[in-house]
Amino acid sequence: MRKKVVIVTGAGRGIGKEVALAFARKKYQVVVAEIDARTGNSTVDEINEMGEAAVFIKTDVSVVDEIERMVKCVETDFKRIDVLVNNAGISEFSEVFELDETQWDKVMNTNLKSVFFASRAVARVMKETGGSIVNMASTRALMSEPGGEAYGASKGGILALTHALAVSLGQYGITVNAVLPGWIETSDYKRLKKHHHEQHLSGRVGKPDDVARACLFLASRENDFITGTQLVVDGGMTRKMIYE
Ligand SMILES: NC(=O)c1ccc[n+]([C@@H]2O[C@H](COP(=O)([O-])OP(=O)(O)OC[C@H]3O[C@@H](n4cnc5c(N)ncnc54)[C@H](O)[C@@H]3O)[C@@H](O)[C@H]2O)c1
Repeated sequence: MRKKVVIVTGAGRGIGKEVALAFARKKYQVVVAEIDARTGNSTVDEINEMGEAAVFIKTDVSVVDEIERMVKCVETDFKRIDVLVNNAGISEFSEVFELDETQWDKVMNTNLKSVFFASRAVARVMKETGGSIVNMASTRALMSEPGGEAYGASKGGILALTHALAVSLGQYGITVNAVLPGWIETSDYKRLKKHHHEQHLSGRVGKPDDVARACLFLASRENDFITGTQLVVDGGMTRKMIYE
């Protein structure tokens, strides 16, 4: 039997890259759908060096045609799609009176519109076999700092879209779940200070592989009872009540 196939959007760096590596370790064939050719190819090289299969398909997920072309390529070349991780996203913040329509649309198109169109495109293939879709939301869907209107709304939209898709696609054996990362350090973990770690109930800031393991769990066929859910991966930060 041919190996399973996962598409990870935005897998050139950060959380997406770690998700791609985690699926490769589980012997999935990995499609890196990324806007940046340099980082996308470097993730593929790393997976190939592990002795596993991966391809880079240059994709701007904010453009529906590019998503559909990428999914068509995967269907033609691999003949199956088992998992989609909608990870690509931009974290843009703007003072509330400064946020303009262009920036609002950019954040929404990249973070939210992409999730619907990529999910629907893969579901057309997955509906023959079943499969799993994992959407990268954020704890900023649940709580805010000033200037987070566009980003927070895009991530809140992902939560609503996740349960809507879970309801529509359940009949085809497709699970759709959301992961809500909190503070996940994607650059130099060693530069973090003691108080950064201590503000987490878990006693440490998160790492990309904390999120990657959550994606593997939700995408596992053994967990096909779990759909439409939201898995918060934040070291307990959103459970900490603060009175100042
Ligand atoms: N790091 C965190 O603390 C954190 C917390 C909550 C949620 N998230 C979410 O997790 C996801 C990954 O975050 P990260 O910290 O690894 O981000 P990152 O900026 O390090 O990586 C994002 C990746 O997505 C790619 N990308 C951006 N726009 C794209 C587009 N239009 N098309 C295709 N690829 C595109 C980038 O090139 C990059 O490789 C995002 O959705 C983010 O909102 C991150």
